[in-house]
Amino acid sequence: MKPDSLKAAVLISGTGSNLKALIDAVATKGLKLDIVRVVSNRENAPGLNHARTAAIPVSVISHADYPDRQAHDAAVAKILEESAAELIILAGYMRILSEEFTSRYNGRMINLHPSLLPLYKGLDTYNRVLLAGDSETGASIHFVTAGLDSGPVISQVKIPVLPSDDAGSLKTKLGPLEHSLLTATVELFCNRDIVYRQDAILYRGEILKLPLQLDRHGSLSKSI
Ligand code: GRF
Repeated sequence: MKPDSLKAAVLISGTGSNLKALIDAVATKGLKLDIVRVVSNRENAPGLNHARTAAIPVSVISHADYPDRQAHDAAVAKILEESAAELIILAGYMRILSEEFTSRYNGRMINLHPSLLPLYKGLDTYNRVLLAGDSETGASIHFVTAGLDSGPVISQVKIPVLPSDDAGSLKTKLGPLEHSLLTATVELFCNRDIVYRQDAILYRGEILKLPLQLDRHGSLSKSI
């Protein structure tokens, strides 16, 4: 691991394909990220195997073992503190978070969400896009704040919705793009290009007014 790598923890609940994309980017693209811990709230999350294969320490903190959300979040926070993670990456972590947890990591926690936020917060995004007859959809990465999927949006990737699309095809098309979006966005954090200050995102020292957009080469740039 390079000495100036950014220390990050990744929180998952399921497949972990985005975690895998980060692990691969460290290994093959020189991403200066040190994944110091992977946390799952589900013992059988398949994504844990990606972490174990890469010799990343894992913690399973099952929400079923705690009396309430605050207690579970406090247990997760304890592990995160011990790991000394600078950035917390929610990559398919299917939990609503307590306000204590979100305020503790204000400006240091990001989430990947499968819609063009602020549209379609919450679950079942693809079907809601189809039902509304939208002509495009995509994925977003945002800072996590107290409101569900409501924090400032850092970056997005867009795809057209075709008449032949269903929820499955949208998910299939967006999957690899989400991996690129997450990797490119995390790279900005590794390069210290993104800073969060009082509800504003600073991108290379300037306030970001619109989310950065992922192009087809996998690079992020400002919207025009
Ligand atoms: C992604 O589609 C992400 O947008 C959503 O959960 C999914 C996680 O997929 N938040 P994976 O577990 O990384 O494969």
